[in-house]
Amino acid sequence: MIERAIVDVVTPTPVRDGAGVRLRRSIATERLDHLDPFFLFDHFGSEDPAEYLAGFPMHPHRGIETITYMLDGSVAHRDSLGNAGVIGPGDVQWMTAGRGILHEEMPRAGPRRLDGFQVWVNLPARLKMTPPRYQDVPAASIPEVATPDGKRIRVVAGEVEGIAGAVREIFAGPTYLDVALPAGGLLEQPVARGHTALLYLFQGEVTVGGAAPRGAVLRATRLAILGDGDLVRVHAGAAPARLLLLAAQPLHEPAARWGPFVMNTPEEIEETLRELRDGTFARAAQRAEPPRPGGDGAEGPGQRRRDR
Ligand code: CO
Repeated sequence: MIERAIVDVVTPTPVRDGAGVRLRRSIATERLDHLDPFFLFDHFGSEDPAEYLAGFPMHPHRGIETITYMLDGSVAHRDSLGNAGVIGPGDVQWMTAGRGILHEEMPRAGPRRLDGFQVWVNLPARLKMTPPRYQDVPAASIPEVATPDGKRIRVVAGEVEGIAGAVREIFAGPTYLDVALPAGGLLEQPVARGHTALLYLFQGEVTVGGAAPRGAVLRATRLAILGDGDLVRVHAGAAPARLLLLAAQPLHEPAARWGPFVMNTPEEIEETLRELRDGTFARAAQRAEPPRPGGDGAEGPGQRRRDR
């Protein structure tokens, strides 16, 4: 077994996005554009509704998956597939934008803080124009592994001690774990060799890796990029620690990003912007709806674009 070591540490950048939401962004910045296949990592956390109530009004996505995980507070959501609901504490929304979706993400005030994360995972070229899909994963369906030493791991995706995560059948084979370590607690988690892996420490202080002479110290709030290996070993310091462990298969494909779209070439971005201008993007997104009774069904979910 080769332990993964920290190869870089990123301090989140304060940004405003959407209609003025304050965020801490660790991926999709000048410092770190992407970490194949992760194209965005946002942490939203605030006690002041003025910092988040403006939300993210209706906007498009194409070519990626967006994963929203809430710790506290709630976000009202609706999209062009006809889905609508509220993502609350502990809930996950795994949204495959594929060839196109329009959605709205509006945080709601109180009762306590708003706390959560959004991650974008890139789709491979052959799946970029796949029909959009929306998976609502309520907190109760996310397994939690608790150990006698007081460690708790919520398994959003991946596997911990034989327990499979709630979200499956995702191309990148992702691991998405929410780990709470007691003071002095130890996490030893196998991660597939070759997968990109990162830790996002948002509480406490940990040591990563146990190799001689000793591991590297990481303090909240930081994103740590891990080098290759089979195992992630994290030791909490004198206080409890909380972190996300994310890993996924890198794509090794060319990427062209423009705002909420990640495609392979600048031409595909131009085509997407053209569709937005002439109104056909929304129609492409709506074509993913199940055929309605009496509908012509000529452009069902399995239909490919004419030009591809
Ligand atoms: Co969005």
